[in-house]
Amino acid sequence: MSVLADTRPLDVLADFPAIPAGWAYLDTAATAQKPQPVLDAIARAYGETYATVHRGVYQRSADMTLAFEAARRRVAQFIGAGSENEIVFVRGATEAINLVAQSWGGTHLKAGDRIMLSQLEHHSNIVPWQLLRDRIGIEIDVCPLTEDGRIDLDALAMMLTPAHRLVALAHVSNVLGSVLDVARAAALAHGIGAKLLVDGCQAVPRVAVDVAALDCDFYVFSGHKLYGPTGIGCLWARPALLDAMPPWQGGGSMIDRVTFSKTTYAPPPGRFEAGTPHIVGALGLHAAIDYVEGIGLDAIHAHETALVRLARESLSAINSVRLFGPEDSAGIVSFAVEGVHPHDIGTILDEGHVAIRAGHHCAQPLMDMLGVPATARASFGVYNSAADVAALARGIERVTRIFG
Ligand SMILES: Cc1ncc(COP(=O)(O)O)c(C=O)c1O
Repeated sequence: MSVLADTRPLDVLADFPAIPAGWAYLDTAATAQKPQPVLDAIARAYGETYATVHRGVYQRSADMTLAFEAARRRVAQFIGAGSENEIVFVRGATEAINLVAQSWGGTHLKAGDRIMLSQLEHHSNIVPWQLLRDRIGIEIDVCPLTEDGRIDLDALAMMLTPAHRLVALAHVSNVLGSVLDVARAAALAHGIGAKLLVDGCQAVPRVAVDVAALDCDFYVFSGHKLYGPTGIGCLWARPALLDAMPPWQGGGSMIDRVTFSKTTYAPPPGRFEAGTPHIVGALGLHAAIDYVEGIGLDAIHAHETALVRLARESLSAINSVRLFGPEDSAGIVSFAVEGVHPHDIGTILDEGHVAIRAGHHCAQPLMDMLGVPATARASFGVYNSAADVAALARGIERVTRIFG
């Protein structure tokens, strides 16, 4: 069967009003377009049912509180958490990792302790740990990649020592699309008594996630990459970890009792949600999860895997193209065209109505390892089809013609 015949069209493009006919949107790894049910949920929440949560004594607010907490339950169910109390709403993966670094890291790590990251991490899973390092004196080690761009778990096994207290790795690379064997990473981390934090930003829209089966300790993701709104994301952590973590921001909602001499704090997850939350964001995220599960993560994964295979096949047929990452990357393909800066590739593709990302993708240490300042990246979502891949390949052929 040809690769083309193997792409299972999901046929959901009509659900996405912001994607005009003839526009190949290949930047879903940056942020996903929003389906109509998510737009409807947001419009309904602001336009019909809006009120604050957790405070109001009137019916509208009580109803909104129920809807907000139902969204938390939906997230818990979606990622296999034991209870909604294990889900902390945050602004996104970046905020979730900063929360863990400051609250858990700030109290459970001390000078001389080591943490392990990998060469392919997003800056969001590097800089919060460097801030902590500069504050308390931990050491950061970096796990290398295999030749085809996966986190090298054999190397990880050799590098981990009892001084390592945390391993923090991306489930799916935002540049290479490589998928981590999380269960093995968890076994390795737990084997030396360390915790495992998984950055699931690029995984939750692409592969079924079950935190219990993965056996990780922290899992983070952003709603906007999962076809939901910006400004909402989640931290999942084992309940015993959350219970032992101090608040990281102070304000309304996160307290039990406040006096000027002493304040006591709410139990998790409220302890970590100071201030009025992104109410409508949570409702939009609920609708996004319903939408994604309505299609099915297995179907989405199969669809994106087929598009990646087609893209790799089409691009590798063009002589000057260099592909990065493994053959079986999840929905994301990075590449270079010899002698052409990725920004020029992006500009020329845009003229042909193909939107890709060109740059360092917030992964400068990975660019250094690849020996390039930037890459061009095509990333797929539920709305893409073989026609989008064909438009990409035509655009790259034009790039090679223009640059001779
Ligand atoms: C792997 C990965 N981690 C973390 C982030 C940060 O996500 P956000 O900017 O939504 O906090 C991204 C976003 O590109 C990402 O791809």
